[in-house]
This record gives sequence, C-alpha cells and structure tokens, in this order.
Amino acid sequence: MEQSDNQWGSRLGFILATIGSAVGLGNIWRFSYVAYENGGGAFLIPYFFALLTTGIPLLILEFSFGQKMRGSSILSFAKVDKKWEWVGWWSTLVTFVLITYYSVIISWSFKYLYYAFTQAWGSNPESFLYGTHLGLTSGLSEIGGINGSILGTVVLVWIINFVIIYNGIEAGLEKASKIFMPVLAILMLIITFRGITLPGAMEGINKFLEPDFTALLDPKVWLAAYGQIFFTLSICFGVMITYASYLPKKSDVVNNAFITSLANCGFSFIVGIGVFGILGYMSAETGQPIQDVVAQSIGLAFVAFPKAINMLPTFQTTLGVIFFLALAIAGISSSISMVEAVVAPLMDKFGLSRKKAAVIVCGLGFLGSIIFTTGAGLYFLDVIDHYNMQFGVAIIGMLEAIILGWYYRAERLRNFFNPISNFQIGNWWDIMIKYVTPLFLIVMLGQSLITEFKQPYGGYPLSGLKIGWIVAGALLITSIILNLLPSKYNGRLLDK
Ligand code: TRP
Repeated sequence: MEQSDNQWGSRLGFILATIGSAVGLGNIWRFSYVAYENGGGAFLIPYFFALLTTGIPLLILEFSFGQKMRGSSILSFAKVDKKWEWVGWWSTLVTFVLITYYSVIISWSFKYLYYAFTQAWGSNPESFLYGTHLGLTSGLSEIGGINGSILGTVVLVWIINFVIIYNGIEAGLEKASKIFMPVLAILMLIITFRGITLPGAMEGINKFLEPDFTALLDPKVWLAAYGQIFFTLSICFGVMITYASYLPKKSDVVNNAFITSLANCGFSFIVGIGVFGILGYMSAETGQPIQDVVAQSIGLAFVAFPKAINMLPTFQTTLGVIFFLALAIAGISSSISMVEAVVAPLMDKFGLSRKKAAVIVCGLGFLGSIIFTTGAGLYFLDVIDHYNMQFGVAIIGMLEAIILGWYYRAERLRNFFNPISNFQIGNWWDIMIKYVTPLFLIVMLGQSLITEFKQPYGGYPLSGLKIGWIVAGALLITSIILNLLPSKYNGRLLDK
C-alpha cells in the first residue's frame, strides 16, 4: 500500500485526531454531571488518580502498541500471537455497535441545530423531545414505526463518516480534525463565556466544584472516576491502537499521550464550568434549587439546554446554534475515529481496499442504526449502551493489560517507547499496567455485576434486558469466529 495513504502528515495532525476522538458527547454532557454527583470538587482527586494510574498508562500502552506493531487492533494482537487476535476483534465489534447509536445521537444534534434557528422546541422542550422529535413509544415491546426524518439525518451522518474515511488518513481524518478541532474549541469557549457571565452562574459553578471530601470514602466515587476516564479517553476501543499505527515508527509516544489526555480532560473541565454556569442561571431564574435543574446526557443536551435557551434575555438563536453545532462536531470527530477503527481491521484481515471496507462498514453501520430511529429507539439505545460499555470495555481493558503486561511484557514496550519519546518514564508504568489497572478493572466489573443482579438496569423488564446480554455475548462469539477465519493480513503482518 502506498505510504501516503497510510500515514499522518504531521504530529499535529495525529494529536488533533486523537483529541477529536477523545473529545465527544461525553465531555459535554457526562463529565460535569458525574463530578457533581460524586463529590463535586473533591471528585477531581479520584479523577486525576484514575487518569495517572490507568488512563495515561493505558493510552501510552495503546499508542506504543499500535506504533510498534504497525497494525489495527486485530493485527497488533495477532503480531503478539495469532491466538490473541480475537481480543482485537472484540474491541472492534464493541466499537462498531457503539457507532450505530452514536451516529443516531449525532443525527439528533443536527436536527436540533435546525430547530435552534426557530426554537422549535417551544415552551415545553421535554414533551417536544419525547413526543414530536422522537415519537417515543411506551416501552421496549412497542417498537413503533421508523421515524423518517431522523432516518434522513442518520443517512447524512453516515455520508459524512464515509466521505472522511474514504479519503484516508491524511486527506480524510487529518484534514477533518484540523478543521473540526479549532472550530469546536472556539464554539465551546463562547458557550462557557456566556455561561459564566449569566446572573446566578457563580452559584451553579460553586455547586459543581464545592468539595465534599467525605465522598472520597465511598468506593462508588472511585469507580465512577475510573469509568469516566475509560470512556472519555476512548481507550480499549481499538481506536488509539489503530491511529498510532499510522505514525512513523520513531515518533514520540509518552508526550503524545500526555498532551491528548490533558487536552481532553481540560476540555471537559472548562465545558463543565460553562454548563454549571448555565444551570446556575436557570436555577436563579426559576427559583428551583440546583439539584432540580441538573441533568446529564440526553436530558442535559436536549431538554435542559433548550429550556435555558428559552430563558436567555438575548442571542437565543445564536447560542442554540452554537451549542448544537458544537455537539454535532464533537460527535462527528469521535465517530470518524470509530469507523476507522472498524475499517482498518477489515483491510488488515481480509486484504480489502479502503474503499471496499468503508462501503461495508458504513453500509452495515447504517443498517444497524435503523433500529435506533424507531419509536422504541431510545430504549434500545439505553439498554445496548449499558451492556456494551459496562462490561465489554472493562473486560477488554483487563485482557489488554494482562496480555501486554504479562505475556508480551510491559518492559519490552517501555524499552521501545522510552528511547523515542520526548521524556522517559520509569518502571512505575509497568506496575500500573501489570497490577493496578487489572485490579481496578476486576473490582469495577465485580461491582457492576453485583449491581446488575441486585437491581435490573433502568427498571426495564428482564425480557427486555436480554437484548443487552445477547448483543454482548454475540460480540464475543463473533470475535472468536473472526479469529479463526483465514487471514490475508495485506502484507502488514510481515512488517514487524
Ligand atoms: N470519548 C468519547 C466521548 O467522550 C466517547 C467514546 C467512547 C469514543 N469510545 C470511543 C469515541 C471510541 C471514539 C472512539 O464522548
């Protein structure tokens, strides 16, 4: 394969693309709420602890692994030993399932971008979201019809994904990231600035950051910090391994990992201040206490924000457009990294061209998205996301740390990346990979399983939750089957 298609044009391009992957919907709608719920300002302690003991070490692991092996997740694992290829496939499939619904949420952002021009959500954004926009049914058992206009915007999202991936690394991913990331940073700074200058903002920000140090005694708070770090850095999804495989072999590793993770977490923090500024304003305007106006995820983006926009004295349309544009860009810059992490394994394993692999992934991805555009789409999304993220990612992280830390040996990787990095790290890194990371992940998994059996997720009927288990199990079995299929490896296996 020609080099130009297979490499980043510059270090900046690579860094912007990894930040683009890491900064996503989660930074905008998840971090601030998780922090607020788990000790406010005091949450920053477990958060930075998780970042330093697991987040950054695993990011260094994934960067150096991809860069050394020069392959997507599946090829990199196959180069350790053919029998581990399925671990790479598992993360690839988890990522594939993730894009099928992530792209639907991006499509909602596009629709809300359009609504923002007229504040079409009216005076009751809640009933607008669930009624007019989603046409939500009464539960999982009532699927309802496909929502045509959402389906239309989903097609648009997949076309954008396809065009960027089709153009390859430098002309596609790198170029898109160089446009998206500065624009996103500017949009978010405007929102944050508006947020902190509203009356009542300081009350909100105080509530966000007020440290409750007793929370540090609660193990749940630590687990929340670990969960957030995994999700926000996009680690264990095959994405960072694949992205790093397009770097020249002698590129820096350690500094790149620090830059990516600190930029990502800094972004979350700044946005968090803006979000709580706006929530503080809402609380002051309505006289409701902060705990009654806070929201996360879909409730924050598509209900609380439209409500806040309705209350603004001026520039309602401008702020609405800026917010939903930012959400869409943050989403697209993450979704393209997911698509690439699925396209690259198909190219590596079956020797497909980029074009063919992109057609297959975007085609199947679109078909998978359809179920989330039905009347029960939001329920499917909620259940499948829960199982995909809660269990898959933690097990993959554990396998990755154990296979690379013990079987391949952490010091082998450290001896590879230290000499080529701007600064070196000591053997504390091996300890983090071999002991600390697997240990925390086992505790996390155990805790999730206990909660799962004590209380079925989200109050759904058990028959509905089966879908989640079936999807999760099917991914594992499919990974093993894919491992067993004959490989072409496209010549990349030889170049060790
Ligand atoms: N980091 C993204 C966010 O915060 C979410 C995400 C999870 C992701 N896994 C990923 C993005 C894999 C790209 C690839 O929203």
